[in-house]
Amino acid sequence: MASVNYASTSLGDEALDLAYEAALVSIRSEESPIESNLIGGEQHVSETVIERIDPVEGSTRVGAAYAATPEQVTAAITAARGQAKAWRKRDFRERNAMLLAARTDVEFELTRIAAILSAETGKTRLEAYGEAQEVLDMISHYCELFEKNNGYAAQQKSTEREQNLDILVPYGAFAVIAPFNFPVALTVGMMVGALVTGNTVVLKPSDKTPRSTAAIGDIFARHLPAGVINVIHGGAEVGQMLAEGDVDGIAFTGSAQVGWQLFEMAGPRGFQRPVLAEMGGQNPAIVAASANLDDAAAGIVRSAFGLSGQKCSACRRVIVDESVADELIAKIKERAEQLVVGDPMDRATNLGPVIDDAIGARLDAALATAAEHGTIVTGGRLDRDGNFFAPIVVSDLPLGHALTKDELFGPFLTVIKVNGMDEALAEANAVDYGLSAGVFSQVDEEIEQFYDEIEAGVLYSNRADGATTGAWPGVQSFCGWKRSGTSGKGGLGLHYLPGFMREQNRTIVS
Ligand code: ALA
Repeated sequence: MASVNYASTSLGDEALDLAYEAALVSIRSEESPIESNLIGGEQHVSETVIERIDPVEGSTRVGAAYAATPEQVTAAITAARGQAKAWRKRDFRERNAMLLAARTDVEFELTRIAAILSAETGKTRLEAYGEAQEVLDMISHYCELFEKNNGYAAQQKSTEREQNLDILVPYGAFAVIAPFNFPVALTVGMMVGALVTGNTVVLKPSDKTPRSTAAIGDIFARHLPAGVINVIHGGAEVGQMLAEGDVDGIAFTGSAQVGWQLFEMAGPRGFQRPVLAEMGGQNPAIVAASANLDDAAAGIVRSAFGLSGQKCSACRRVIVDESVADELIAKIKERAEQLVVGDPMDRATNLGPVIDDAIGARLDAALATAAEHGTIVTGGRLDRDGNFFAPIVVSDLPLGHALTKDELFGPFLTVIKVNGMDEALAEANAVDYGLSAGVFSQVDEEIEQFYDEIEAGVLYSNRADGATTGAWPGVQSFCGWKRSGTSGKGGLGLHYLPGFMREQNRTIVS
C-alpha cells in the first residue's frame, strides 16, 4: 500500500499508536459479536456460526458470523433486486452524497477498523491503518470519476430532429465476493464500484474476516436505503450459491481457481453475465546488470514480504542477470533477515502470521521441496505457535520449476538467474499470470523494452519502495492480464467503473 513505510513500524504519531493499541486490546479482550446476515435492512441469524480465531494468540475468538442459509441467500438477492430500480433511478449526485456520508463515518472509525483488521488477519498496524485509509480514497475516487464522466452519458452526433445519446446503465444487482487479505479496501473497491454506478449489492465477506468486512457493510447500510446493500456470511458454499443465484453480475477478488469457475457459470439466465475478477499473480521483478542493487533489494523485499506475501501484487520471482545475482541475493538476504515477525501489538513488528493453517501447510511443503531441488537462502517456519514464517528466499531451482510458476500466497520469494534482458522477459512471461511486474535497470532502452514486452497490467520501474506493489486509488490503475483477471477492469483505474454497466443508445425524435 502506498502509505506503508517499512523503515518505521509505528504509525508515526504517538497519539495514533496509543489509540490503535488501546483499540486492539479492546477488540481482543471483548467478547466478539456474532455478525448477522443483513437482508433488506433486517438482521437475520441462523443455526451455524463461523468463527475466526486470533491468528496471533491462537485460541480467542476475534470474529464470528451466522452462516447464511440457502433461503437467506435467495432472500438477499431478492432484496437487492427489489431495490435495483429505485437506486438506479436516483440522480447520481444523490447516490454519491450517500456514499460520501458513509465515507465520513469510515474516517471517524478508522482506528477501530484498523484494530479489527489486525485482530482478524494479524496484519501490522501500518498495513491495517493504510488499508483503512485506502477505503477513504477509494470512495472519493469513484465518486469523482463518475461525476467527471457526467454519469457516463454522452451526446452523439445529432440533428435538429434527432437527438442521440450514448449512455452506460447499471446491470441491476451485483454479487460482491470479498477476499481476506484486504477485507475492507478491496471490498469497498468492488462494492462502491457497483453502488456508484447504480447497482445494488449482495456482499459476501471472506469467512476468515467476517468482522472486518461487516464493520464496513454496517457503515454503508446506515446511509443507504434498506436493501441497496445486503450482507451474507459463509464459506465457499455460500459464495457458490450467491454466484449461481439470480444476480446480474459478479465482482470477485480471490484465487484464480475460484475466479475461473465464476467465468464458467453462465448462471440461471442462459447468457454470460459480467464477471469482474481480480485474481492472483506470479509477479516478477527483473534486475538488469546495470541496476542499482540497493534500490532493487529494498523494493523487492518490501514487495515480497509486506503483509507476509499475501498480496496479489506481491513480488514472487526475482529474475536477475547472472553477473550481479550473488551480490543481489546477499543484499536481499540481509534486508529480509532484518524484518521482525510477530504480533502487530509490538511496535517492532514488520510482518504478522499468515492467515491460516492451509497457507502454513502449503509453505511447509514448499520449503521441503525447495530444500530438495534448490537452495534456501534464508527463512522458514518460526518455532512458536501459529503460522509465523521468517521471510523465505530460495535460489537455484531448475528453470521452469513449479515453485516459480504457482502462487503460494505467503512470504516465499524465488530467485532465477538469466543472461540479459531478452532471457529475463521470456522467463517473466512464462507463467499463466500477468498482474504486476517491476524492472530495475539504468538503461533506458531496457526499461522501454520491459514496458513493451512484459505481459502484465501493473508496471513499475526502479521503484525502491515497492518493486511490484503499492497501487493506490486514482494513482495507479490495477488491471490483471491473463490468469490474473479481467483486463482493464481490476479496480482503482480509469476503466473500472464501466465494467459495472452496459451500453445503450437512446435516439429521441422531436
Ligand atoms: N493495492 C495493493 C498493491 O498494489 C493491492 O499492493
